[in-house]
Parts: sequence; C-alpha cells; structure tokens
Amino acid sequence: MKREVTKAIFPVAGLGTRFLPATKSVPKEIMTLVDRPLIQYAIDEARAAGIKEFIFVTSRGKSALEDYFDHAPELETSLRRKGKTDLLDALENTNMESGAIAYIRQHKALGLGHAVWCARRLIADEPFAVILPDDVIAAEKPCLQQMVEAYQDTGGCMVAAMEVPPEKASAYGVLDIKDDMGTMVSVKGMVEKPDAADAPSNLAVIGRYILTPKVLQNLNDIKSGSGGEVQLTDAIHQELHQDRDVYGYRFRGQRFDCGSKAGFLQATVAFGLSRPDLRDEFGQYLREMMTLQSAAQ
Ligand code: UTP
Repeated sequence: MKREVTKAIFPVAGLGTRFLPATKSVPKEIMTLVDRPLIQYAIDEARAAGIKEFIFVTSRGKSALEDYFDHAPELETSLRRKGKTDLLDALENTNMESGAIAYIRQHKALGLGHAVWCARRLIADEPFAVILPDDVIAAEKPCLQQMVEAYQDTGGCMVAAMEVPPEKASAYGVLDIKDDMGTMVSVKGMVEKPDAADAPSNLAVIGRYILTPKVLQNLNDIKSGSGGEVQLTDAIHQELHQDRDVYGYRFRGQRFDCGSKAGFLQATVAFGLSRPDLRDEFGQYLREMMTLQSAAQ
C-alpha cells in the first residue's frame, strides 16, 4: 500500500532561551546559516520529501516568520529592474503558494507534544511529518525524503535516529531497540533524557518524525492527565502499548544542533565551507585562525 505523507508540522513556538538576548525579538528559526534562515533549510527538506501542506505552530513574537514567506513585491520589482536574476531566484524559494501554509498559535509553551497537538484539526486522519527546524541535517538525499521512502515499506511511526556517546544520552530521547535491521530498527521503548547509566541504547531521537494520526489522540489523553510539559516521545511510546509499530531510522547525513550555540557555530563553519563562493576565503581565514591559536598555546 502506498502511504502518502503530504503534511508537515513545524513546531516553532519554543522560547529559544539558549539564544537570549537575540531571541527576545528574533525568532530562533529566522537566525541565518550563511544567508538562509534555519526555517528555509527545513522547508526545502520538506519540499524534497513531497510535502505540500506546511503547518507552523507559532507563538507571540514570531511574526518575522510569517513575513518571511510572503511575497515582497517592491524588492522583486527592484531586483528585476537591475537584472539581478540570481537574487530573484533565491527569493523565489521563499514564496509559498497561497493556501499551502497555515499558522496555528500555541498560547503557552507547554512542550513539543503540546505544540504538535495544537495542529490536530489540520492533520485530521492522515500520516504527517514533524520537522524541528533547529535540527539542521546536511545530507546528499534530504533526511525526510530518506524517511518517507523507507516509510512506504513500514507504515507505523518513524523517528530519525542517530548514534550518540553515552554521556550525551541525557540530552535526548533514547530508543530501546527490539530488532536491529541496520538502517532501520524496530523499537520496544523510548526513554526521554535518561541518565547515561540507564540509557537503553546509544540511538537518540533527532527532530524528524513521521507519525500516524493516532499519536494526536494519544497526545489528547496525555494532555488532559498532565499539568506540565507534554512530551511528544510519550505519545509515540503509547503506540507501543497498543501493539502498533514504531521504527527508528538511521539517516545518512550530518546533523547540527542549531538550538545550541556550539552546534550553530559548527553548522555555520560547515555550511560556509560547503559554499563554492566562500570556500577559499573562509577556509583560508580558518586556517590562519588555527595557526594563530596553536602558536599562542
Ligand atoms: P527546544 O527544546 O529547543 O526549546 O524545542 P526552545 O524553547 O526552542 O529553546 P530553548 O531550549 O529555550 O533554548 C524544540 C522544538 O520544539 C519547539 C521549539 O520551537 C523547537 O522547534 N517547541 C518547544 C514548541 O513549539 N513549543 C514548546 O512549547 C516547546
């Protein structure tokens, strides 16, 4: 059976406290790697995977995100008049077809699970993807596209998974593996942010998911029984209690945690060096910096 995934949720309602004071007025997802905001990388990845409907879960202070996807007629006219076709092409990628994009408010930052739940009426009864724009993944074939292809054979729920050292496990949701098939694992449990000694494996969940609408029902149940943050991993875990399949997918690519300062800087260096127009000058600068630093030590 062909399982089409055409809707994606982008939860962007978090407070982004690790980037304060910048995120006091600039949404984290608008911060740029080289010359594209994080959200553009996420949208491009979704488009490559065949996503047609883009659902943003936003919050107060995120209007820059909504403006980013609008047409900019004066700017476009000015660039056209000056014959700047390359810049016009770059702008073209930011335009969204009317009706393809929807914004839902999360009125309180009650966690990732709650943010996804806020989009429930727009998902209705279809499988859907979730993309966290602050996890940026550099890959020959975009990560979500790899997952959508694998999902054609599995159905169920699928989470992107990545090997992490044991001491880092406490920063992630970690998979308890039932069966390791190589690229794919089937899962018998998930533990949110375990101590290193309690981590059931070294496979951590990264911010790409393909989920069944049943997960929204689970979120509904969890939400009404909890006063605090609603975890998405708990709702996926509940699928296992009901004997439905959950898979981890070891994607091919390099993931950058752009929700943290160190990860954002690493991504800036990696994406800067991957750009033909910057590589030589930027690479030379980095080499000089390294030489200076080792001389100083
Ligand atoms: P993070 O855990 O990175 O939280 O959220 P954050 O608020 O964005 O950043 P810090 O930790 O304060 O620096 C992971 C993803 O879940 C979304 C965020 O926008 C981000 O894409 N999220 C988180 C929500 O949409 N709503 C929430 O209530 C929490």
